[in-house]
Amino acid sequence: MILRNTIAGQVLLLLLYARHTFFSSAKTVASEQLSMALPEPRAYLPDAQNLDFVYHDHEELTRFLRATSARYPNLTALYSIGKSIQGRDLWVMVVSSSPYEHMVGKPDVKYVGNIHGNEPVGREMLLHLIQYFVSSYNTDQYVKWLLDNTRIHILPTMNPDGYAVSKEGTCDGGQGRYNARGFDLNRNFPDYFKQNNKRGQPETDAVKDWISKIQFVLSGSLHGGALVASYPYDNTPNSRICRSSALCAMFQTYSAAPSLTPDDDVFKHLSLVYARNHAKMSRGVACKSATPAFENGITNGAAWYPLTGGMQDYNYVWYGCMEITLEISCCKFPPAYELKKYWEDNQLSLIKFLAEAHRGVQGFVFDPAGMPIERASIKIKGRDVGFQTTKYGEFWRILLPGYYKAEVFAEGYAPREVEFVIVEQHPTLLNVTLQASKRVEGVGAGGPSYYRPMQAPQHYRPGGPPPYAAAASTENGIFSTISNGLNSLYSNIFG
Ligand SMILES: *[C@@H]1O[C@H](CO)[C@@H](O)[C@H](O)[C@H]1NC(C)=O
Ligand SMILES: *[C@@H]1O[C@H](CO)[C@@H](O)[C@H](O)[C@H]1NC(C)=O
Ligand SMILES: [Zn+2]
Repeated sequence: MILRNTIAGQVLLLLLYARHTFFSSAKTVASEQLSMALPEPRAYLPDAQNLDFVYHDHEELTRFLRATSARYPNLTALYSIGKSIQGRDLWVMVVSSSPYEHMVGKPDVKYVGNIHGNEPVGREMLLHLIQYFVSSYNTDQYVKWLLDNTRIHILPTMNPDGYAVSKEGTCDGGQGRYNARGFDLNRNFPDYFKQNNKRGQPETDAVKDWISKIQFVLSGSLHGGALVASYPYDNTPNSRICRSSALCAMFQTYSAAPSLTPDDDVFKHLSLVYARNHAKMSRGVACKSATPAFENGITNGAAWYPLTGGMQDYNYVWYGCMEITLEISCCKFPPAYELKKYWEDNQLSLIKFLAEAHRGVQGFVFDPAGMPIERASIKIKGRDVGFQTTKYGEFWRILLPGYYKAEVFAEGYAPREVEFVIVEQHPTLLNVTLQASKRVEGVGAGGPSYYRPMQAPQHYRPGGPPPYAAAASTENGIFSTISNGLNSLYSNIFG
């Protein structure tokens, strides 16, 4: 039996989005205690009583999540962000000491598993991670600290329909990779570099809606078929530049160049945190002789192989959420008896990666009366991908130690530039007060007040025109056909 300890009870199905209520007594204590000062989280083997090392089908997965939310009402909450084409719920479990309400000043983070239906190791790892958290909260200081200071949202399967037609023991191939309509969900997001003409799928739309409502600071998407932590960008502007030249197109195909974000230092760091805490990943051993070996177990996505419509680029460019892709098993769907080993290899990585949400700068943007300003845009100077404050005026940005300047703009306020220092030991708290901007005389009398930002955010524009609108970049022509063909071949070989 897989779930011996199922607790009968009501389903705690809550639409948490609507419940981000502000509790005025909230104190920001996120940085009082530091993850770095805590003892390492203890290795933990989940109790087989609650969760065996076997694959759980959708019904079993649902039962486990419901039982856990009934058993740990103070630490977990279960909600669905929508349904797959075949009507399976896309369950998200929140694990936190405040499962039902956002903690003002503290970050929300997430993991997404099984976007490719035939890569289910991550799906099982995430169930074990939930079990680990709830059963260690009272005994492990690190876990307690993490759950007291972070809301962790876990979507174990984004593609339950694909999983349902996948076969255990199948290490390669595309059977079950796609959703029920044959779409690759990790090619189904709006793309920063190229027009993505793929019709939006219900699973993708649910995730887009989800991340538009909760400001996630950090995210990991779990895959299989390789052993590497891969960071944005997954796509590249280069093919646009090279498209006209045959030689260039071939060159692009065969030696994909890195496509680096302005936060490359941070993305490399985050990837290394995962790889180095993993039992094997940082050794950078190739899965098979025909597949690449990755130095330190990390790679830039586009340098591995470029793709259009990936989820990590979307998270980062549209919402400033730092998502990386975690390829955690050479075999896409290994036999169940290997799951225990995968858990041992990944558990420390899975936990320590999330704690990285507490690195960098965090704070609030206020108006002169001390009220929070929602949707203020913030850009770290030199890093053109910006981000916005929440309705409580909060913001977070993961940054490595150093000296930085932030540019803060909001409609109706004078823009400000603020300098700050980041240290290794704890996040920097930064509250910014914006002054109302002065009306420009004679312009639009009686209308809105005008102001001139020092510099409009260059790249971050949810809902605004995508950058490809300006530079025609449709993927046409024989060489892009070849390169697309090769890329889909790659993606079937790799994760
Ligand atoms: C920033 O504002 C928050 C929310 O009002 C407050 O709790 C915190 O103490 C402030 N931090 C600093 C460094 O002023
Ligand atoms: C949940 O928290 C409340 C209030 O702190 C406490 O009374 C209750 O016993 C807790 N429930 C469980 C199942 O731990
Ligand atoms: Zn994959």
